[in-house]
Amino acid sequence: MKLNIAVIKGDGIGPEIVTEAMKVLDGVAEKFGHEIEYTQLLMGGASIDVHGVPLTDETIEKAKAADAVLMGSIGGDTNTSPWYKLEPSLRPEAGLLKIRKALNLFANVRPALLYEDLADACPLKKEVAEQGFDMVIMRELTGGLYFGKRNTTVIDGVKTAVDTLEYNENEIRRIAIKAFDIAMKRRKSVISVDKANVLDSSRLWREVVNEVAKDYPEVKLSHMLVDNCAMQLVKDPSQFDVVLTENMFGDILSDEASMITGSIGMLSSASLNETKFGLYEPSHGSAPDIAGLGIANPIATILSAAMMLRFTFDLDEEADAIENSIKKVLKDGYRTGDLYSEGMKKVNCSEMGDLILANI
Ligand code: IPM
Ligand code: MG
Repeated sequence: MKLNIAVIKGDGIGPEIVTEAMKVLDGVAEKFGHEIEYTQLLMGGASIDVHGVPLTDETIEKAKAADAVLMGSIGGDTNTSPWYKLEPSLRPEAGLLKIRKALNLFANVRPALLYEDLADACPLKKEVAEQGFDMVIMRELTGGLYFGKRNTTVIDGVKTAVDTLEYNENEIRRIAIKAFDIAMKRRKSVISVDKANVLDSSRLWREVVNEVAKDYPEVKLSHMLVDNCAMQLVKDPSQFDVVLTENMFGDILSDEASMITGSIGMLSSASLNETKFGLYEPSHGSAPDIAGLGIANPIATILSAAMMLRFTFDLDEEADAIENSIKKVLKDGYRTGDLYSEGMKKVNCSEMGDLILANI
């Protein structure tokens, strides 16, 4: 099969971790007889430095022309990087939001599972960690507070900032359908997370999710308030199968979910539209504090590449090979710094990539 992949290495640790993911993809292609063509694209700070904007229209067109996009991370240190002296619409993150919207990537799938061999790195109580967990956060990605009208003005001499949280029923329905479809392939449970005790947008969310649920009689649906969900994630994460939620809640809960897996460096993500196209990136950020040191954990990005093989290219066997290799490497005791504990074998970013490649 010919795989046409656009690559956005991005900023911070992005180039290091994507290089490892490409190394692993190349190994898979060689073993299973595929041919990969990569098109390198600039986004975020790297694009600002060259074009003055975080994402050009030409880059969007090139991304659209590919089968899928593999991305690292974008952004820098918000306190010290010159990118954050620019007006908000020209900063690195604006590029990411723009590409999500331009490619209509409304469904963000973020799996969070506790690997048996990482139970020790899980910050939760031993009794809780022993139960294990395996959930998918289905985050709405092109609506809500991220894309609502916003402005900062002075009203009667008082500086006032407004952000708008807006959802229409169609936006809610399409993400809910994706969540129920995924639940059908898993343990058939959806927990929809909202703030329906306060927000109108959440009350509509609940109403539409209940309607969609009627088409999936086998799936057990329940609703949970977001504050309670934040608590339940650390109290009893094993209760979650598919977590369906709006953009901002999903952003926050997915960071929390990633941390209980042992490290934020383990969480992959896929951003999908109605077609097979997807943008695949780790859930974590660009970690400017460790950029260039070669010590970042590339696993989230390599897992994202596996998701790409599975979702966009239907190459399940190849995706399994990557995921099993990662399990094996962890079982053998290899850890990057974020996951390291005494008695383990400490490796750097490219050594981790080599090990995963060698076990495929
Ligand atoms: C994420 C990130 C982004 C988001 C930032 C970088 C804009 O935190 O993908 O979770 O908030 O969506
Ligand atoms: Mg986030």
